[in-house]
Amino acid sequence: MKLRIHRGEMRGGDFWRGRARALIPAIAILAALGGLTRSLNATIRGSAHDFSGLHPQEQICIFCHTPHDADLTVTDAPLWNHQVTSKVFVVYNSPTMDASVGQPQGASRLCLSCHDGTVAVDSYGGKSGSIFLGGKVAVGADELNNDHPISFTYDDALAALDGGLFPPSSTPSGLGNTIRHDLLIADQLECSSCHDVHNGPAAAAVNDNLLVITQVQSQLCLTCHNK
Ligand code: HEC
Ligand code: HEC
Ligand code: HEC
Ligand code: HEC
Repeated sequence: MKLRIHRGEMRGGDFWRGRARALIPAIAILAALGGLTRSLNATIRGSAHDFSGLHPQEQICIFCHTPHDADLTVTDAPLWNHQVTSKVFVVYNSPTMDASVGQPQGASRLCLSCHDGTVAVDSYGGKSGSIFLGGKVAVGADELNNDHPISFTYDDALAALDGGLFPPSSTPSGLGNTIRHDLLIADQLECSSCHDVHNGPAAAAVNDNLLVITQVQSQLCLTCHNK
């Protein structure tokens, strides 16, 4: 079964209705306090990655992480608990690309373990689920050759070679440190260079597709591309 999950559906009627009742007084207080609601939103809770409605104890992290017996398929994966995709992708290529792009690795392979539509969202902790991503959110389902390249080294040497990229080790990201520190994982450009899977403060402030930098005036793109 392939479907685009809608958050309301995933959270399941009974759980969400019960919880909504419990939350009414809290919401009234928060509304009175105004600004607090925004800081509460700077979290995975209630974000596109909150699947707690699919879990009997309403756990959130368990779909991706476990404290014990983690999956070691992907090198350096953070205590991973979700089935990992084994798909071999057609990756981005073009005559003007300077970087060489290989198969998605690291955190990007973890993202694609739901976002290529081959592994179910609820295939975690060794059990096989049945809810697959489809449509536009399944970015890897129609291969990766039509998507921004990922899983390659973006360093100062690449910037010098390309001529149209800022050197990541010294250019500010706008998030407090350099591109290298804030947007790259071990010098690699990954899905997480543009998105925050946990909807942390930067992504919550942008409030657009879990992006960490706004698309207004193409600020996201112009952080790295000197155009
Ligand atoms: C939808 C999958 C998903 C969920 C749910 C999720 N994470 Fe993560 N988490 C990731 C991925 C992918 C990474 C790898 C690094 C990255 O991409 O930011 C990660 C990395 C981490 C890391 C190490 C790097 C860092 O950002 O500090 C910690 C700690 C972490 N997650 C904690 C949590 C906790 C706690 C929860 C639940 C409240 C949670 N995560 C829920 C996918 C998830
Ligand atoms: C456990 C499965 C799972 C993993 C792992 C996962 N996602 Fe998702 N992601 C989802 C689901 C489910 C949705 C919601 C789809 C919908 O709303 O139809 C989603 C939605 C999104 C969205 C759209 C957000 C919005 O505001 O609508 C983005 C962007 C995204 N994911 C990026 C990532 C990135 C980047 C990673 C890895 C760092 C990742 N995801 C890892 C399951 C996952
Ligand atoms: C160079 C930045 C960048 C990288 C790298 C990137 N994305 Fe995105 N992604 C975006 C932007 C920008 C959007 C919003 C597009 C829009 O507004 O139409 C987006 C949108 C999405 C969406 C929502 C799609 C929709 O139409 O609902 C998902 C899911 C997603 N990205 C997942 C991923 C995954 C998984 C990866 C890694 C394989 C990834 N992204 C890598 C910039 C990026
Ligand atoms: C975190 C840094 C970063 C961000 C953010 C980013 N890019 Fe890139 N992008 C790169 C790097 C590095 C390359 C590889 C360039 C090369 O090797 O020639 C690249 C490649 C590309 C390419 C392919 C170039 C070619 O020669 O085929 C295009 C087009 C592109 N990016 C557009 C965008 C757009 C549009 C956005 C905003 C939605 C964006 N990028 C956001 C770093 C980034």
